[in-house]
Amino acid sequence: MKIADEIVKSLSDIIKNKKILEIACGDSEFSLSDSKYASEIFATDISLERFYRRNIKEIPDNIKVYEMNAAELKLKDEEFDLTFCYNAIGHLVEMKDLVLSEMLRVTKKGGLVVLIATWTMDKKILYELHENWVRKDNGKDLRYMQNSKYSILIIEKNFCADQDTLAAKTGRY
Ligand SMILES: C[S@@+](CC[C@H](N)C(=O)[O-])C[C@H]1O[C@@H](n2cnc3c(N)ncnc32)[C@H](O)[C@@H]1O
Repeated sequence: MKIADEIVKSLSDIIKNKKILEIACGDSEFSLSDSKYASEIFATDISLERFYRRNIKEIPDNIKVYEMNAAELKLKDEEFDLTFCYNAIGHLVEMKDLVLSEMLRVTKKGGLVVLIATWTMDKKILYELHENWVRKDNGKDLRYMQNSKYSILIIEKNFCADQDTLAAKTGRY
C-alpha cells in the first residue's frame, strides 16, 4: 500500500463525507487517495504542471484542481471542513506563518487543519510547530502523532477563535 493511502486510511474517520482543501498538492497523490472518502476536494498548488504531467486517465468527480498560492488563497473564509498540507511544509517554510494563517482562515469553525510529513525535513518542522504552540498555549487545540513512517499535526480551529486569536496563534501579528 502506498504511504499516502496508508495515511488517508488511518484518517478516514475524519475525512469521510467532508469538504476538503489541499494546499501545495503537487501531482495530487494525496487528494486522489482522499477522494475515496471525501465528499468534495479542492486540490491546489502554485503550479499544476506536475498534476497535468501525471496525465491521470480518470479524475474522480469529487476533485477540482486550481492553481493557487497557499500564502494567498483565493477562497472564502470558513469554506472547508478539513485543510491538508501533505509533504509540502518544508517547501513553504519561509512563509509558513502566512500559509498556516490562510489554512486556518478558510477552515470552518470546529474544522481541522492537518499537516502531514513523511520526509525528515518536514517532520522536523511539524515537531517544532507542535513544541512552540505547546509552549505558547499548552497546545490545547493540537493533536500530534508520529511513527517510524510519518508525523501528523492536527490543529483544531477553535469554535470561538476570531481572526486576532488565529493571527496570534500563527505568529502573524
Ligand atoms: C515537495 S512538493 C509536494 C507536493 C505534494 N504535496 C506531494 O506530496 O507530492 C511541494 C509543492 O509545493 C508547491 N508550492 C511551492 N510553493 C507554493 C506556494 N506558495 N503555494 C502553493 N504551492 C506551492 C510546489 O509547486 C510543489 O508542488
